[in-house]
Amino acid sequence: MDLIRDPAAMRRWASEARSRGESIAFVPTMGYLHDGHLSLMRIGRARADRLVTSVFVNPLQFGEGEDLEVYPRDEEGDLAKCESEGCDAVFFPQPDTMYPPGFQTRLVTGALTTVLCGASRPGHFDGVVTVVLKLFNLVQPHVAVFGSKDYQQLQVITRMVRDLAVPVEIVGAPIIREEGGLALSSRNAYLGPDERSQALALNQSLALAQELFAAGERDPGVILAAVRAHIQAQPLGEIDYVQLVDAEELTPLYGPLVRPAVLVLAVRFGRTRLIDNRVLSES
Ligand code: PAF
Repeated sequence: MDLIRDPAAMRRWASEARSRGESIAFVPTMGYLHDGHLSLMRIGRARADRLVTSVFVNPLQFGEGEDLEVYPRDEEGDLAKCESEGCDAVFFPQPDTMYPPGFQTRLVTGALTTVLCGASRPGHFDGVVTVVLKLFNLVQPHVAVFGSKDYQQLQVITRMVRDLAVPVEIVGAPIIREEGGLALSSRNAYLGPDERSQALALNQSLALAQELFAAGERDPGVILAAVRAHIQAQPLGEIDYVQLVDAEELTPLYGPLVRPAVLVLAVRFGRTRLIDNRVLSES
C-alpha cells in the first residue's frame, strides 16, 4: 500500500494507474476509521482495479465553534485498517498542501443545502463539495463511494457531480449500525455511556416510522409526532430537526406521502450531534 501525502504525487499515481488502463475506486474520509468506512472500502474494492482511500479532516467544512480541533484522529490505526482492507493507496494530505497560501476558490451549493444540516451549519456543504471536487481531481476515480448515513451530503455530492459533469460514478452505501442500532460515526467517540444508551432511540424511532408507513399511515404529521415523542422521552436528547423530506430534493413533505420519502433527523446528546435517516418503504 502506498502512503501518499503530496497532492501532486497523488495525481501522478492516479494518472499512471489510468495510463495502464486500470480503473480507480475512491473512498474519501476524515479518518478515525470504523466499520462503516471499511464497508465503503469493500464496495469500492469490488468495483475497480485500484482502491484509494483519503484521510483528511477538511477545515473548510467546519464552522466557527465546531469540533475541528478536537475531531478524533488516529493515523496509525487508520493506515492499518486501510492496509487490511486491501487499499492500494492512502492519500493523507495536510491542510497546508490542500489549501496552500493564496487558495481562495470555493464551490457554492444551492437549495439542497438551505435545509436540514445546511440550515444549522452554514457553509458546511460548500466546504464539503469543494474538497470532494479537489480530491476527485487528484485521485481521478471512476467510482467514489459515500455512506448514506450522511444522506444530505450524498445528495449534495451527487448533484454537484451532475451539475458540473464530473466524470465519476457516485455510489451510496448502506448505513452500518452497532448492535443496538446506533449508526456508526466517528463522533460516537464523544458519547458518554448514558448518552450512548439514550441515542439508541434514534434508530428505534426510525423503525417506528417505517412500521407506521408499512401499516398504511401516509400523514407526515402523524409519523413525525410519533418519532418526536419517542426521542423526547430521552432526557439527554435535544432535537435539532426531525423531518420527512422528498428523497431527492430534500423538500419537506406536508401532504399525504405519495413520493419517495426519507425521514431525516439530527439530535444532540450533550456536545455530540448525531444524524440518522431511513427511506420509508412499503414493506
Ligand atoms: O463524510 C465525510 O467524511 C466528509 O464530509 C468527506 C466526504 C470526506 C469530505 O471531507
